Amino acid sequence: MRLQINGRPREVEVAGHEFLLDVLRDGLGLTGSKECCVEGECGACTVLVAGRNVNSCLVLAAEVEGAEITTIEGLGRDGLHPLQAAFLDHAAAQCGFCIPGQLMSACALLDRNPRPTIEQVREAMAGNLCRCASYEQITHAVMDAAAGTAGG
Ligand code: FES
Ligand code: FES
Repeated sequence: MRLQINGRPREVEVAGHEFLLDVLRDGLGLTGSKECCVEGECGACTVLVAGRNVNSCLVLAAEVEGAEITTIEGLGRDGLHPLQAAFLDHAAAQCGFCIPGQLMSACALLDRNPRPTIEQVREAMAGNLCRCASYEQITHAVMDAAAGTAGG
């Protein structure tokens, strides 16, 4: 199968029932997307498919052939992304496990709504759980990235 990942085509062998998360991690070595609940509850596996945030543990790889897929490895490929800078500013990463998924959901939000309200940020990020309870830091980091004040 040919998948378009982080701006370049990748060839990978995929069984019909394989989920995108497994193909990314095991087939392509892109281990930034995390495996946790594997049932669409935690958001640790979030990637972008055609700009939309999806739980890659629930998406069959075969369903996304030809679509542009962006993983956390692609987010900062041209230097630190403003969201990553904002997360650093706010010390939003504690253990860090949920952060790739948080960043991808935040990226999708700011692409469709560049100046969200704080309520809209909380709502958009509700599917991304954080066992370290960094929710306030994450929310304020997303607000700063939207305002263009991160990384100063
Ligand atoms: S691992 Fe996919 S939503 Fe939890
Ligand atoms: S920073 Fe540890 S789970 Fe979110």
